[in-house]
Amino acid sequence: CASRSGGPYRDDVFMMQIHETIESIRTARAGCGRVAFVPTMGNLHDGHLALVREATRHADTVVASIFVNRLQFGGGEDFERYPRTFESDCRKLTDAGVAHLFAPDESVMYPHPQTYHVAPAPAHADELEGAARAGHFRGVATVVLKLFSIVQPDAAMFGRKDYQQLLMISAMARQFALPVRIVPCETVRADDGLALSSRNGYLGDSHRADAPRLFRVLTSVAQAVRAGNDRYPALERDAMAELAAAGWEPDYISVRDADELTRPTDHSRRLIVLGAARLGGTRLLDNVGI
Ligand code: PAF
Repeated sequence: CASRSGGPYRDDVFMMQIHETIESIRTARAGCGRVAFVPTMGNLHDGHLALVREATRHADTVVASIFVNRLQFGGGEDFERYPRTFESDCRKLTDAGVAHLFAPDESVMYPHPQTYHVAPAPAHADELEGAARAGHFRGVATVVLKLFSIVQPDAAMFGRKDYQQLLMISAMARQFALPVRIVPCETVRADDGLALSSRNGYLGDSHRADAPRLFRVLTSVAQAVRAGNDRYPALERDAMAELAAAGWEPDYISVRDADELTRPTDHSRRLIVLGAARLGGTRLLDNVGI
């Protein structure tokens, strides 16, 4: 297995092995012992590399994947123009210590139309991101289950930035008794607070300058709730109005139970405020724990 401690090296340079077929990654994985897995759609930034760093703490061998999963994009979304930057991604993953990269193309992942799907619980699939992007979480759950089945990781890293995805995948792993530990990883932010995301690359200069506004708005809702304000609908309305006044098109700003994603109840142990909004043509997503 090509772990940092076990090679392979060429001229003292560590080489990541790239696997394009299921057979090839399965064969490599079989010799790897404990594996920590970082699934991605590529166009990697420091947030992904933080997932890789975290992965190295959970196993000797880190496996990553790059696959832009058509199933999780709706009609009219950015599947075709989603940035594909394979060579620079490979350099970053190699430098970060990834031993094996699974990088299938569509004919490998979906040799036949994928007619079997995972249907996540409506509480996760149809709320917030699910309401804004019908079928999105069904596509995510289906590809993640398939990737888990191919890579058979002991642990898998998911960022808190996509909080609803993290909750949904944790619930799927629990409900199907998948032998994989889902490890949540902190959101990585630019100096001005903007959560790193592949889609930030779509922002022009003036929109990039205004993009941290979403995080600021979410932070002020979180502060108000921490200070005892429980008039959530009013807080959410005001936050959406603030974004709209600055030229954004907010999809939602919503205070939720951080474990169940339901509206807060008397039994909620932790709350979170989540938001999504469009700035120019770019849809940004973020959340702040309360
Ligand atoms: O978070 C992502 O990049 C994707 O949703 C994932 C988990 C790689 C599945 O395609």
